Amino acid sequence: MQDLKDKVAVVTGGASGIGRGICRALAEDGARVVVADIEVGRAEDVAKELQESGAEAIAAACDVTDPASIAAVVDKAYDTFGKVNILCNNAGVHVSGRARHMTEGDWDWLMNVNLKSIFTAVRTFLPRMLESGEPMHIQNTASEHGVGLPDLGRAVGYTASKHAVVGFSEVLRAENAKYNLEVSVLCPGLVRTDIYDSARNRDEASYGEGQRIAKEVGEPAMADGMHPDTAGRIAVDGIRDNDPFILTHPYIREFVDRRYQQVSAALDKADARNLTVEQSGRHYR
Ligand SMILES: NC(=O)c1ccc[n+]([C@@H]2O[C@H](COP(=O)([O-])OP(=O)(O)OC[C@H]3O[C@@H](n4cnc5c(N)ncnc54)[C@H](O)[C@@H]3O)[C@@H](O)[C@H]2O)c1
Repeated sequence: MQDLKDKVAVVTGGASGIGRGICRALAEDGARVVVADIEVGRAEDVAKELQESGAEAIAAACDVTDPASIAAVVDKAYDTFGKVNILCNNAGVHVSGRARHMTEGDWDWLMNVNLKSIFTAVRTFLPRMLESGEPMHIQNTASEHGVGLPDLGRAVGYTASKHAVVGFSEVLRAENAKYNLEVSVLCPGLVRTDIYDSARNRDEASYGEGQRIAKEVGEPAMADGMHPDTAGRIAVDGIRDNDPFILTHPYIREFVDRRYQQVSAALDKADARNLTVEQSGRHYR
């Protein structure tokens, strides 16, 4: 979607960090922006800032884990602007640590905010977007953790959720290509945001050790992170170029290469077995 002028964009998690950077870049390029977030006060601040810069923007209260709340954002966007062209499913949370550090509450929270919310938002937004005949783009925020295995913070639940976001996005793009729906998956490396303080939006009772590790290990590393406005600009340039994958940092290559070397070695081993069709079954494409 090369021209963003007067397009309408909804950004979840738009009140902070990468989401706020995406909102700023969208507004800079002429889009009208719905800043949707569970932190309503901060979302209003971002909407106000965009308005003051000359853009059209509103805030919308949104808990992405609540289907009714997502439906209310759809209504608000259509009531205010009459259409939605771009949906950025960016809201996300982080828990660090190994499997043994995590509670069931950690796991459910990660999967609900990072993954299931995207499924719900797509099911809720897409029918109306498809009806409109307008240009459409859905961008889902995954992570470097969705394409490789970064050294920082062995975050087993977070990584699982972000791998799933990558897979979901790839299939969504393939299955909707004939409807001209563009889909991208944003895989940022380290960006200087409030992600390691995700617990601020969480019921304290279900914390596991991983939440503490996120704060202890993650927060000090943040000083070296990319500026969130740079990440937001890269994300929006990826929308304009209809890129399937948007990776923010060159260093991610090392993690991706390391992973695919292992996959490639496994395929070499599969070749070497020289199985007959009877033994292996027929492959499909
Ligand atoms: N910061 C990084 O280094 C990094 C790297 C890779 C991927 N990401 C991903 O980027 C996305 C944005 O995170 P960030 O780093 O900007 O963190 P952040 O904490 O600064 O921003 C996350 C936003 O999501 C909102 N949010 C949390 N739970 C919500 C819910 N239930 N409903 C609605 N909004 C909710 C928060 O209020 C916040 O505004 C996340 O999906 C995260 O996993 C971040």
